[in-house]
Amino acid sequence: MNIKFFSRIFFRLLDLADKATRLFFRLIGLGYVYWLFQTYIKLRFKIKALYNGTKKNRGEKYNLYNFRRNIHRLEKGLSYATLKPVFAEDYIGETIHYLVEGQKNNEFDYGSLGWGKAVLNEYFSKVNHTKTISKAFATFEGTVRNNGFPKNEIPYAEEERPFSDITYEQLMQLSLRRRSVRHYKDKQVTEEVVKKAYEVAKYAPSACNRQSFHYYFYNQPEIVKKLSQIPGGVAGYDIPSVVVLVGNYNGYFDERDINAPIIDASLSAMSFLYALETLGLASVCINWPNLPDREKNIRKVLNLKKHEFVIMMIGLGYADAKGKVPFSQKRIPEEVVKVNAILK
Ligand SMILES: Cc1cc2nc3c(=O)[nH]c(=O)nc-3n(C[C@H](O)[C@H](O)[C@H](O)COP(=O)(O)O)c2cc1C
Repeated sequence: MNIKFFSRIFFRLLDLADKATRLFFRLIGLGYVYWLFQTYIKLRFKIKALYNGTKKNRGEKYNLYNFRRNIHRLEKGLSYATLKPVFAEDYIGETIHYLVEGQKNNEFDYGSLGWGKAVLNEYFSKVNHTKTISKAFATFEGTVRNNGFPKNEIPYAEEERPFSDITYEQLMQLSLRRRSVRHYKDKQVTEEVVKKAYEVAKYAPSACNRQSFHYYFYNQPEIVKKLSQIPGGVAGYDIPSVVVLVGNYNGYFDERDINAPIIDASLSAMSFLYALETLGLASVCINWPNLPDREKNIRKVLNLKKHEFVIMMIGLGYADAKGKVPFSQKRIPEEVVKVNAILK
């Protein structure tokens, strides 16, 4: 009782001190500076992840995400209606260097290496070999090419895209079906089903095809309970398993890309949620609040690296048919879609 009373007084005094300091800074015309300081305190974990990630990226001899970005730039160059006889001279040497180092150090995954080699092979067969391109080609041929790459992972005609007969009505049905579900059966979600759902999610668009994020999946009850309670958004609900979506800022060399891993991961998350529904599972997104105590806690529990940061969590499982689902009314196109809005 006494402890509760004193802690209430203590936090009230802290609050008053904060209000007084804010007022003081506002009176001397430095309200924005004070806000900036407070905001930094709150967001410092994410800002530090951005700092450490971009610094790591710039300092590395080779980086998977830079390699993937360059390969994508090449495949875009190869997709022009009229091919330029010479392009990518400014980054072809760097790309081959990443490939040599990444392969030598066994750090690039099989898929990235295969796709990279297929696109490079196509590039060298299509462009004029200037001095710079010849030098890169010699290294490619001499050290890294070999035939073990999928030759078809190169630009192709639009009409060769896989056919889909999914109708608007079917997609609408899936969209109506997916709702945030917070009551689940006591049935374990397997890693196989999560990987199967991710097989769909992986086709989501991503900036320069980097895909600089990870899905951390947990299905052990004790860990799930611990993790799902950290953000606070599903207090009072029993979530059987959880995915923590973690972004990596080491995929970017410039701070301008602060949004990229968040957008990429979120786009994939939407496909993931739909895929779960088709596999008989339900889900609920769990907001990640950028609050220092939560950040400290999750970083410790997940042992996150300096350049990693939490984007959000996804609770998932088999829905309890009798559990209540909030209606959550949706905003209509007339309100949300602004057509030819007047520009200033
Ligand atoms: C980024 C994000 C964070 C969310 N965080 C929470 C959360 O912490 N707790 C919760 O119960 N629901 C959470 N939700 C679920 C939303 O409340 C829900 O998506 C919204 O009300 C619309 O309902 P619906 O998903 O059933 O269409 C979150 C959704 C998103 C997209």
